[in-house]
Amino acid sequence: MKIIMLGAPGAGKGTQAKKIAEKYQIPHISTGDIFRANIKEGTELGKKAKTFMDQGALVPDELTVALVVDRIQKDDCENGFVLDGFPRTIPQAEVLDKTLADMGKKMDYAIDIDVLDENIVKRMGGRRACVNCGATYHIENIPTKVEGICDKCGSETILRDDDKPETVQKRLSVYHEQTQPLLDYYSRQGILKSVDGMRPMEDVFADIVQILGA
Ligand code: AP5
Ligand code: MG
Repeated sequence: MKIIMLGAPGAGKGTQAKKIAEKYQIPHISTGDIFRANIKEGTELGKKAKTFMDQGALVPDELTVALVVDRIQKDDCENGFVLDGFPRTIPQAEVLDKTLADMGKKMDYAIDIDVLDENIVKRMGGRRACVNCGATYHIENIPTKVEGICDKCGSETILRDDDKPETVQKRLSVYHEQTQPLLDYYSRQGILKSVDGMRPMEDVFADIVQILGA
């Protein structure tokens, strides 16, 4: 099963992608997580990506596309994968389609998690991410058992650099301009499914399972 998660920043792509990966036993591939891991390790890619991410801008396609093309050809992607945060532009989607076509494959579902902009701004300010394992929480909706400490690995949880309010606004406008056109793109392919992302995360997941099949 090959799935794309679509939706504004903070819509819950990562939250739902992790649950999908676990239930259907397929890899979760998040370009944002890959960039953040590179930033943490201080790689060249990380240094380049950080300058764009901190401004709420997209990392250029030439730094992004090769990563994913390479990743989806690995053995563990044989039975499918869930892409989170990729594609984000029409050119990225076209390269993805071409790569899969060359392998005799195609995407099965593009799932759009629909959340209003005003809800997004509230969510992002409350999100906390673990500095070590990347697990995400929300101070009100999904709190850690001990404030500021990751439930999974015991490391510190922090507000992501790009979750500051002014950067969130910028990310939202970039989303509407560059990523939202993908909804039409996948609708034309007949694989777009939308779920209402403004309900508790378990309900959102139940809708997704209904689409994907148990
Ligand atoms: P990325 O890491 O992909 O960020 P994003 O798309 O902005 O999405 P987020 O991770 O912020 O949100 P999410 O939808 O995963 O929501 P989450 O589940 O965490 O990308 C970061 C940057 O990297 C980009 O800005 C760009 O610069 C660069 N980049 C990445 N990919 C790229 C690409 N392909 N091309 C170019 N540049 C790229 O949930 C959010 C919060 O809400 C959490 O606190 C969560 O606990 C809470 N929550 C989740 N679901 C619910 C619910 N149902 N109800 C209440 N709260 C909920
Ligand atoms: Mg995410």
